[in-house]
Amino acid sequence: MSSFRVDLRSDTVTKPSEAMRRAMAEAEVGDDWYDDDPTVNLLQERCAEAVGKEASAFVPTGTMANQIGLRLHFEGPGHLVAAAAGLHVTSVEVMTAAALAGIAYRTIDPGPRGWIDAEQAAQLLEPDEFYDVEVIDLLSVENTVGGAGGRVMPIDELRAVRKVANDAGVPIHLDGARIFNAAATGQNDAAEIAAEVDTVMFCLSKGLGAPIGSVLCGPADMAREARRLKILYGGAWRQAGIVAAAGLIALEEGPKRLHEDHERARHLAEGVAETLPGSVDLEQVETNMVFVDTEAVGMPMLETIERLAALGVGVTHSGGQIRMVTHLDIDDTGVAVALDAWRALASERGR
Ligand SMILES: Cc1ncc(COP(=O)(O)O)c(C=O)c1O
Repeated sequence: MSSFRVDLRSDTVTKPSEAMRRAMAEAEVGDDWYDDDPTVNLLQERCAEAVGKEASAFVPTGTMANQIGLRLHFEGPGHLVAAAAGLHVTSVEVMTAAALAGIAYRTIDPGPRGWIDAEQAAQLLEPDEFYDVEVIDLLSVENTVGGAGGRVMPIDELRAVRKVANDAGVPIHLDGARIFNAAATGQNDAAEIAAEVDTVMFCLSKGLGAPIGSVLCGPADMAREARRLKILYGGAWRQAGIVAAAGLIALEEGPKRLHEDHERARHLAEGVAETLPGSVDLEQVETNMVFVDTEAVGMPMLETIERLAALGVGVTHSGGQIRMVTHLDIDDTGVAVALDAWRALASERGR
């Protein structure tokens, strides 16, 4: 049990609501290995519909959904997947992809904004005409971009990247773990974003508030192979309707309230920036994440995390900065408690 009064480590820490617990207890279930679970099947239909794709596969984690998505397009070891450095698939999951599918990457540093533009996509996908050795099977993108503080990749830039990939004959997989956070900024809905890619995964277990589960969505003709890979990776989780029942509520209710998390993240960011000038790039705060530069605190990053924990506030780090994520279980009081902790820390250091 987390001892934090306010847990801002991630939007994955939320507890299922009473309605979710009831739905889980009462869920109609079957054996998902045989495609027999009616609640899983309904969730898969609704998820595919929510992002405008024909089919989807419900799996335990975002990592598994990404890995199935990558593997679907990847012809095999010896070929490459192209992507920006610092994405979830090219950092945390880099060993997973190597171990499960023999995937290696061609990466490019996208700079602080976190996503590649058309020019960088063209560079990444440039054919290896001289040596004629490197073959790229897939381009992978992420939206929102977690490593860049949850920023939204603008749709025009995604479209321009899409055109470059199309011209190169390379499909696109989107890690849309937080695609509904991108949609909640009001720029484009999830289906508009997903229309620019071939496959998209999103997590029910992050901002949407489900306890467990992610989905990989794509065209109907990939569904059979996606199911085969789901079984291969150990994701045929039998009476998974129990968790799919919570997923249905998350999909229905979650997207409607994400703007509240974004407003609280902004409030949190502005409060920290006021206490510690120069510590937060407010332009980066577009969704539910706040990154804080600890140089302004005058305390090493890990010590800052420990001090905040001692004050009851859970945070993590990413790319050398403190990361705080707002979510369903953070209310206005939670934000106030977190801001008090930052103020206490700042005054301890004479800031
Ligand atoms: C952008 C992104 N993609 C994928 C994942 C993987 O999801 P999971 O932790 O469910 O495997 C995460 C998890 O934090 C993430 O932030």
